[in-house]
Amino acid sequence: MSTQAIEALFTPFKIKSLELKNRIVMAPMTRSFSPHGIPGTDVAIYYRRRAEGQVGLILSEGTVIDRPASRNEPQIPFFHGEAALKGWQHVIDEVHAVGGKMGPQLWHVGAVASFMTDWVPDVPVESPSGFVAPGQKRGDAMTEQDIADTIAAYGKAAAEAKRLGFDVLEIHGAHGYLLDQFFWSETNLRQDNYGGSTLKERSRFAVDVVKSIRKAVGEDFPIILRLSQWKQQDYTVKLAHTPDEMSGWLLPLKEAGVDIFHCSQRRFWEAEFPEIDGAEGLNFAGWAKKLTGAATISVGSVGLSNDFMTAFGGEGSQPASLDTLEKRLERNEFDLIAVGRALLSDSKWVQKIQEGHMDQLQDFSPTDLKQLN
Ligand SMILES: Cc1cc2nc3c(=O)[nH]c(=O)nc-3n(C[C@H](O)[C@H](O)[C@H](O)COP(=O)(O)O)c2cc1C
Repeated sequence: MSTQAIEALFTPFKIKSLELKNRIVMAPMTRSFSPHGIPGTDVAIYYRRRAEGQVGLILSEGTVIDRPASRNEPQIPFFHGEAALKGWQHVIDEVHAVGGKMGPQLWHVGAVASFMTDWVPDVPVESPSGFVAPGQKRGDAMTEQDIADTIAAYGKAAAEAKRLGFDVLEIHGAHGYLLDQFFWSETNLRQDNYGGSTLKERSRFAVDVVKSIRKAVGEDFPIILRLSQWKQQDYTVKLAHTPDEMSGWLLPLKEAGVDIFHCSQRRFWEAEFPEIDGAEGLNFAGWAKKLTGAATISVGSVGLSNDFMTAFGGEGSQPASLDTLEKRLERNEFDLIAVGRALLSDSKWVQKIQEGHMDQLQDFSPTDLKQLN
């Protein structure tokens, strides 16, 4: 990697009250190591190690809001209740003790079942219209009261994040989970104000979630919203087919209070609208930044040879060149870059890059998923 690319990656970044020493973000990764939903000391030490390893910003694994069926695995951490919040207090204190910055990723899975276990919650799952995928029913359609309570639960979780001392928070609006089930016309068939024929209309739930969170945290606390065009239910889906549709989707969310869009792709170098600017054109984060003026995070297979969904099929991945990242950072296409599996496997990944020890970068192995180290 050239000196300029290293410089680009290690340039500080500031937005509102958040100051980062570099542009590298640890992507949120569900680990399911929190018995009874309570993150323990092992979880705190796992995140502390990434802060010690010079990660600029750590985003936690998805941690669920206070709704009866908001998670789909029994060891996913809660972001509510005294015991779980005490666990999170320990996490952020450990990260701060070594100079790190961190935000929780607030999550509700909606109708999506885990593909790792067959565990189900003891109450029916909830989603916009009782569908998990086109024509595939699962659980109940949310009533207007359920929607209001869910929006309030996001606000409550956000207030707790701020109270505990987190530096930022992220809302999980991607990958086919609850917020994305509202965005997607195939899973949102509602006839009320939370449905509609346009993406803009179907974004109202997310807009209300963002407003509730903004009210809870005040103006100066940055809010990140993670979005994806693709769904785990169908990788080929696109919510926004044109830049105009994308503006109709993102601008009201920015207006509601989003500071940073975290634009999830499986491969960050893929052009979002190649028919407009070619195969080397702007990626999702690039278009989101261009259309909204907001800061953006890109993500997807940084430094690795294949994409993350293959990890769940038991596939490993080898270190890959960072040249494309270099090119895109130099043209200022996005502000921050998130890294998932490489940081899950190796807490020293950032340090190795900073010190130019590219030869020491290691493979990602699916056995890394089985431990918290
Ligand atoms: C084990 C694992 C768990 C994940 N859990 C989450 C999650 O809780 N929330 C989320 O938004 N993305 C999740 N992802 C996706 C990652 O945040 C990231 O987008 C993806 O791994 C691509 O980055 P990578 O290619 O650098 O690994 C997960 C990925 C992995 C490998």
